[in-house]
Amino acid sequence: MIELKSAGEIAAMREAGKVVAAVHAAVRERAGIGVTLKQLDEVARTVIEEARAGASFLGYHPSFGAMPYPGVICTSVNGVMLHGLPTPYRLRDGDLISIDCGAYVDGWHADGTVSFTVGHPRDEDLKLIKVAEKTLAAGIEAALPGGRMGDIGHAMSAVGRGAGYGMQNDFGGHGIGRAMHESPFVPNEARGGRGLRLRTGLVIAIEPSLMAGGGDAYYMADDGWSVCSGDDSRSVHVEHTVAITDDGPVVLTVP
Ligand code: MF3
Ligand code: CO
Repeated sequence: MIELKSAGEIAAMREAGKVVAAVHAAVRERAGIGVTLKQLDEVARTVIEEARAGASFLGYHPSFGAMPYPGVICTSVNGVMLHGLPTPYRLRDGDLISIDCGAYVDGWHADGTVSFTVGHPRDEDLKLIKVAEKTLAAGIEAALPGGRMGDIGHAMSAVGRGAGYGMQNDFGGHGIGRAMHESPFVPNEARGGRGLRLRTGLVIAIEPSLMAGGGDAYYMADDGWSVCSGDDSRSVHVEHTVAITDDGPVVLTVP
């Protein structure tokens, strides 16, 4: 079932979105050479606690994870595309990292991901991040009342594929509200003009991921959570929680 949200409910989700954005800012600030992924998770825990919010990911156990999620953020480094665990790995100069965070306030969830580099960046990583952000922006722009779900994936693949990057459609976006993962599924790639009619009150997480190698293959790492590009090429994931309103798309996961 797809639940449309009222303006009041969207306002509640906006509060959760502010917490997610605060986590992104604090983690970005702390991330540096020699800092562990676990330390970044601890920074995120503190921000969520101080905001008196809840951590959507902690203990979450979807079918695609081997065990309940042990952290409050996903920390996906270099060839890890999605759901990287906050391990004792120490960040190295030039690492490319995506930070995915979910938080809830008064029972309403928001989910968002940012990507950035640590230390001296590689030019090709900066380009990958820029294209991923453009891909997400194109998806958000297509999230219009009266449009179709396929318009979002169509707009995103035009940017990501157009730049020569690989994409996958098994892990895409999702409805979000009282639960972090709700219907409908939001494909990263789709045919325009097809699929569910987009309506005011629909709130979705849009989350494209790109693989620098250009292939679509990926694999699950031995840790049972990390989803890696098939060729171990560098990959990037970005995400916003977006409300579809009469005034167009409204991004909830911003400060
Ligand atoms: N944004 C990610 C997704 O929707 C969050 C995964 S949460 C986790 O797939 F706990 F499963 F990692
Ligand atoms: Co998500």
